[in-house]
Amino acid sequence: MRAKRFSLQAGDFLLDYSKNRITEKTISLLLDLAKAANLSQKIDDLFIGKSLNSTENRPALHTALRNRSKQAIYVNQNDIMPEVRSVLQKMQDFVEKIHQQTWLGATGKPIKHIVNVGIGGSHLGPLLTTSALSQNAITDLQFHFVSNIDGTHLNHVLQKIDPETTLFIISSKSFTTLETMTHAKTIRAWLEKKLNQTNLSNHFIAVTSAIEKANAFGISADAIFPLWEWVGGRFSVWSAIGLPLALMIGMPGFYEFLDGAYEMDQHFRHTDLRSNMPVILAMLGLWYINFFQTQSYAIIPYSDQLDFLRLYLQQLDMESNGKSTTHTGTTTQYHTAPIIWGEQGCNGQHAFYQLLHQGPYFIPVDFILVAEHPHPLEGHQDILIASALSQAKALMQGKPSTHLHKAFQGNRPSNILFMPKLTSRNLGALLALYEHKTFVQGVIWDINSFDQWGVELGKELLPQILLDFQTDNANPEHDPSTMHLIQHYKKMRNSSCEKL
Ligand code: F6P
Repeated sequence: MRAKRFSLQAGDFLLDYSKNRITEKTISLLLDLAKAANLSQKIDDLFIGKSLNSTENRPALHTALRNRSKQAIYVNQNDIMPEVRSVLQKMQDFVEKIHQQTWLGATGKPIKHIVNVGIGGSHLGPLLTTSALSQNAITDLQFHFVSNIDGTHLNHVLQKIDPETTLFIISSKSFTTLETMTHAKTIRAWLEKKLNQTNLSNHFIAVTSAIEKANAFGISADAIFPLWEWVGGRFSVWSAIGLPLALMIGMPGFYEFLDGAYEMDQHFRHTDLRSNMPVILAMLGLWYINFFQTQSYAIIPYSDQLDFLRLYLQQLDMESNGKSTTHTGTTTQYHTAPIIWGEQGCNGQHAFYQLLHQGPYFIPVDFILVAEHPHPLEGHQDILIASALSQAKALMQGKPSTHLHKAFQGNRPSNILFMPKLTSRNLGALLALYEHKTFVQGVIWDINSFDQWGVELGKELLPQILLDFQTDNANPEHDPSTMHLIQHYKKMRNSSCEKL
């Protein structure tokens, strides 16, 4: 049976990929491609910390953060595991202090609000995981997130919190990201005013690899949770960047999250390519991108808990593989990362599914299904899962009709990833699954999935434009369009900005 032949089990997950445009031969040829790219060796290289991030000359060792074995992992001949474990211990001590209410704010009150201040990988992991596992919360701490520089975002959060009982986590690997640092300064000034004091040490902690910069901001060493150069921002939720999750579900829950990822790591590392879930998922994605020229990929969870998954995977996939230069510096003659997008299933059905079913091109879909939900309302749960199965079936089978506008072509591929329940462990495994899928595709495309030079140019241009906003004459070297827009903005902007 095709459904059996083209299904895989890894841990709690069933992947049914039988609705794809494949035969046994397709899979075997795709795996030949993987072998030709030396994939098995590259997987080993990833885990043992070879310098796979070639443009920055460093390993990508997010797997070390969830290495739950006793095995040492070396970077420059030093075993990094003792340091990893010591940061986990530091997280544990901190979480206990907050939970036991022995960590008090400047006016002697216990912490009730946690505000994560960060962007990109320093935001999306904490946002996704705390939203996905909120039913596992063991405290009534309130969690808030500030990422976007738009003042509306920060204002909105500040209105919901009580300064006396709020802890701000300044999450930034580099501690230079403009949005995060601007927020941090604004928040500090706001707190000083609200609490009428300058000793705010118990209201700020930092997660960063730039310890000195965090110190210079006024955060002392004991309130800094270190990160390492070998952890990429979009792979950092397993580190102290995951503190909001640890604070929400407690360290035992956080360890389960790491366990789930570790189990997926073991599956990825030790399972033959034909039965390897990240590998199969990657090769199917690549099949459509490189052999059918698809440019888009939909991630559709039928689960409210996974609402933010598409945003998380957008950064993971598009920042990792949205590249056109190979390791050796040549331009790729093939497409790489697709445009990742999506939405919760039932909402999508009443919005963009029209295009999925009858649009002029096909878009491969991953449907992510959770059998048991935390709030199973009678009648709702079965409708939810039946909806996903009906949509996947309709995409695959289509329906002929003499009325063209009522005809469905069918043969539109999708994967179904089914899990019994969204536990901490399964969430860890799910994120690790997609990390490895992304890595495999990067290997086949011969690109470095661990750098992100494409985000730099815009950042470089920004200071000059900011300066032009503040001076009468804009830099004459701007192109006419930018010059025109700078002048336009200067005429329209608020004459005075609010100080919080
Ligand atoms: O600009 C992109 C980026 O560097 C991401 O890769 C990263 O996750 C994000 O910015 C935030 O960086 P940081 O943690 O250094 O503030």
